[in-house]
Amino acid sequence: MLGKRIFAPVLGGIALCAALTHAVPAMADDTPVSFSEGFTPIDPADQVAAMHRGMNVLGYDPIWFDPAHARFKAEHFAKIKAAGFDSIRLVVHGLRHMDAQDTLDPAFLATLDTMLQAALASGLSVSLDLHYSNECGTDPASCQEKVDAFWRQIAPRYKNAPNRVAFELLNEPHGFLDAKAWDGVYRSALAIVRQTNPTRNVIVGPAGWSSIDQLASLDLPEDDRHIIVTVHYYWPMTFTHQGASWVKQFTDLHDVKWGSQAEYLKVSTDFDGVKAWADAHHRPIFLGEFGAYDRSDIESRMRYDYGVARAAEAHGFAWAYWQFDSDFIAYDMKTDDWVQPILYALVPPHD
Ligand code: BGC
Repeated sequence: MLGKRIFAPVLGGIALCAALTHAVPAMADDTPVSFSEGFTPIDPADQVAAMHRGMNVLGYDPIWFDPAHARFKAEHFAKIKAAGFDSIRLVVHGLRHMDAQDTLDPAFLATLDTMLQAALASGLSVSLDLHYSNECGTDPASCQEKVDAFWRQIAPRYKNAPNRVAFELLNEPHGFLDAKAWDGVYRSALAIVRQTNPTRNVIVGPAGWSSIDQLASLDLPEDDRHIIVTVHYYWPMTFTHQGASWVKQFTDLHDVKWGSQAEYLKVSTDFDGVKAWADAHHRPIFLGEFGAYDRSDIESRMRYDYGVARAAEAHGFAWAYWQFDSDFIAYDMKTDDWVQPILYALVPPHD
């Protein structure tokens, strides 16, 4: 469904705010970062309840390569919290920041430290999500090597982070990462995380883009009770991805509306299936991505975002809207304010 997207930054001379510059110093070594709040294990169902309403942030921000050109600033975390969100999904394309030995760039790590600390300081829960496009390698073995290397550096670094931080092993496994290959890759990464974070909640989704219809292919270790299962929901793609350049068959689509009674009902029925799987396997659910690309009309987007978010809540899932900035936007960086209809749909004012 998705492909590598090149982010075209609209840079407005936005400087990283002063608060960020003296947050956490850059660390080129593997010393664990200290946090003002300690870690205590938390049941994954309780963590999902605390994550409740969330927002995907930072995935396509220029900050990762040049903090001086950041669009997202630390103060946005406070705005997210104040608008009624409980969590963020901190999207990092970590594999892009590795050298030939798969060592993460200290500058990338420093930015990540700063952003993680700032999100926590704003009172938000954080899913630290490893995103990738085509830098995962060309086969499961090379992908595993890189994903392992990422978590071998990140897990010990953040082992003292409060339990509000969960690690999401890899976004939307797909392509050569079919269910069988993904099983090997995620188990390897999980074992690495468990060496330093034996009871931190870890987020894992099924192969096949973490689509809800792929849940049956996800086989989890019975004895690890600190796993949250994630799924993504963009159905129907003809509505949510109309006009999207990165999904060839939908690039020329337009004027597809959403919001009939049957469409609302379909979301609810789809989530009934997810809930049945979750109950049978005793795993809580995090709907880590949903939303509609900005090419759809705003009324349909509102209906869709409202419908999916409320259905997720009715089924006991935490959710994170895709996404704050870049595209599908919930927040307009030009006016430095929320796209009010989207915010209204996600966090209804009467709630
Ligand atoms: C991808 C984005 C894409 C979005 C919706 C995300 O997982 O990283 O590039 O825009 O899904 O298609």
